[in-house]
Amino acid sequence: MTRKFKIDLFSDTNCGISQGMRQAIMNADVGNEVAGEDPTVNRLLEECRELLGKEAAIFMPSGTMCNGIGFRVLCELPGDAILLDKTAHPLHKASGLVAGLSHAVPYLLEGERGIFTLDQVREILERPSGYNISVPRVLSIEQPTNFGGGAIWPLKTLQEICALASQYGVKTHMDGARLLNVVAVTGISARDYVAPFDCVWIDFCKTLGAPMGAVLAGSQELIEKAWYYKFQQGGGMHKAGILAAGCLYGLHHHFSKLKNVHKIAQSLGVLLSKVPYIDLNLQFVETNIILFTVNHPTLSAPQIEAALAKKGIRIFAVDHNTIRLMIHLDIKEEDSATIADAFLNLVEMP
Ligand SMILES: Cc1ncc(COP(=O)(O)O)c(C=O)c1O
Repeated sequence: MTRKFKIDLFSDTNCGISQGMRQAIMNADVGNEVAGEDPTVNRLLEECRELLGKEAAIFMPSGTMCNGIGFRVLCELPGDAILLDKTAHPLHKASGLVAGLSHAVPYLLEGERGIFTLDQVREILERPSGYNISVPRVLSIEQPTNFGGGAIWPLKTLQEICALASQYGVKTHMDGARLLNVVAVTGISARDYVAPFDCVWIDFCKTLGAPMGAVLAGSQELIEKAWYYKFQQGGGMHKAGILAAGCLYGLHHHFSKLKNVHKIAQSLGVLLSKVPYIDLNLQFVETNIILFTVNHPTLSAPQIEAALAKKGIRIFAVDHNTIRLMIHLDIKEEDSATIADAFLNLVEMP
C-alpha cells in the first residue's frame, strides 16, 4: 500500500493488507453472491452465524450499511425514534444516515464515554406516548464505543438494558464494529455479548485488517428484510467472494493478534500519560483506541495533528482539544517510543 505517513494512527481502517490476506483474496473461489451462490461468502456467513449464535446473516460492503439497514429493518414507521449515545458513530460520521436512510429520529443519551445507564433508558421509555410523539422503536449501542474512546460495555449492563427495552417493545441493535476487540480483552464470547440483541454486526476492515466487508446477523425474518434494503441501496455485490476471502483470513489469522494490538495501546498510553500537556487516564485505554485531551500552552489539537503530520505521524484531532489514536496490526511495539517522542518534542515549541 502506498503510504503517505510512516505511522498512521488515524483509524484502524488505515491498516494495510497483509501478504497472507492478499494471497487468500487472490485464490478466492467466487460465485454470484446475490443469488446465494458465492461459496466464500457462504462460508463467511456460516462462520459468523456460528460466532454470533444468530439464525441468519448477510454480507455487506460496510459497517455504515449495516447500521443503516439494521435501523431501517427494526423501525416500523418513518419518524420512529432510535435511542443512542450522543457520541454514536452513525450520528457523526455517516452523512445523516439515521434520518436520510433509516427515516428515523435520534433520541440522544448522555452517556459516559459512550456508555449510558439503565435509568437513562428507563427515563425515556417511561415518557408518556401519544400520536404526536415519535415512538422509541430501536435502542442502539456500540461495543466498544468509538468516540467514547474504546470503552467496553459490561455484559450485565447490556443484558439489563436489552431486557428493559424488550419490556417496552423496543428492538435492540449492536454496532459491533470492534466487538472482537472486546472479546480479545475480556474473554467473554461474542455469542454472549450479542445474545440479548435483535440485530448485530461485525466489521472486518477495522482491526481484522480486511480491505472491506461487514456481516449483519439476526433472525431469518430480519435478514430477509435486510436483503430487500441491501438491493435497494445498491449493496448487491455479485462476485463478492474476493472480499469475503479477506474477511475470513482476518477472522482466522488476525483475530488472535488483537491481544498484542491492545498491549501496544497500553504501553503507548503509559508513555503518552507522561507528556506534560496530555491528560490521559490509563484506565480508559481498554481496547485499541486511545482518546485524550490536550492542554498545550500554544497548540490546539488540530495544530498538534498538523505538526505530527509533518513528521510522518498521522493522528486524529476529534475537536479543539481532543485527540484519538487507533492502534492496529501495522503498529509495532517499537513505534510507541517514536510516537511518544513526537508528542514530547512539541513541548519545546514556542
Ligand atoms: C463504531 C463504528 N460504527 C460504524 C462505523 C462505520 O463502518 P464502515 O467504515 O465500515 O462503514 C465505524 C467506522 O469506523 C465505527 O467505528
